[in-house]
Amino acid sequence: MATLEIRDLHVSVGDGSDGAKEILRGVDLTVKAGEIHAIMGPNGSGKSTLAYAVAGHPKYEITSGSVTLDGEDVLEMSVDERARAGLFLAMQYPVEVPGVSVSNFLRSAVTAVRGEAPKLREFTKEMKRAMDDLSIDPAFAQRSLNEGFSGGEKKRHEILQLELLRPKVAVLDETDSGLDVDALKVVSEGINRFSGGETGVLLITHYTRILRYVQPDFVHVFAGGRIVAAGGPELAEELENEGYEKYVKAGVSA
Ligand SMILES: Nc1ncnc2c1ncn2[C@@H]1O[C@H](COP(=O)(O)OP(=O)(O)OP(=O)(O)O)[C@@H](O)[C@H]1O
Ligand SMILES: [Mg+2]
Repeated sequence: MATLEIRDLHVSVGDGSDGAKEILRGVDLTVKAGEIHAIMGPNGSGKSTLAYAVAGHPKYEITSGSVTLDGEDVLEMSVDERARAGLFLAMQYPVEVPGVSVSNFLRSAVTAVRGEAPKLREFTKEMKRAMDDLSIDPAFAQRSLNEGFSGGEKKRHEILQLELLRPKVAVLDETDSGLDVDALKVVSEGINRFSGGETGVLLITHYTRILRYVQPDFVHVFAGGRIVAAGGPELAEELENEGYEKYVKAGVSA
């Protein structure tokens, strides 16, 4: 069974002048196939930094700790190798690529992950079926990648990639603030289709709203660059009612 293991991860980001600032201060997390984990925490607590570090973004320096997928050292892998190994990372602010269509992008991504190019006709069918399931307008396939995408379109595209790539572990950095209720439902249904299956999901958010539709198995509270509390879905309820205040204090004093 696929397992992503993050152990005592410390990550710094350089500001270019007076050295590096430590953002992640010892993160421990294990995500297994079929599990949904939610990471919740206030703005600036380091949630996206965790996603970027696992994705291999060059700005984020791993100063200590480890990340493994099925025992393989993820930190030694190139960004492409991470995708081939079965990691999927959806970023809060995806890059716009004018001139590359969604369908071309998806076919290249599928080719990279599967190790061979799918036949064009078969791929087109597969893509259309997945788009239909997600209520995505067929014309969307010809749009330029991420260019002018609305919040809802970005998220639908994210789930479309999940459907086609079938990763072992997906890290989704959600701007669920930008989603209307319909988009939220489509995205949630997409995520729910993976739960109990072969994919482990790490859902990053600071609102509990999406958790009305997605039932996480585990909720982790992130503050001050580390996980300061963990529990089941009831923890999300508590956060909704009481906010992060007590955890922020714990994060600072830890
Ligand atoms: N590339 C960078 N350069 C400088 N500082 C950075 C960089 N990336 C992150 N930081 C800093 O690291 C801290 C954590 O940021 P991060 O984006 O991980 O927070 P977050 O928990 O995702 O917040 P939000 O809920 O607003 O998305 C912030 O103080 C941020 O300014
Ligand atoms: Mg963020």
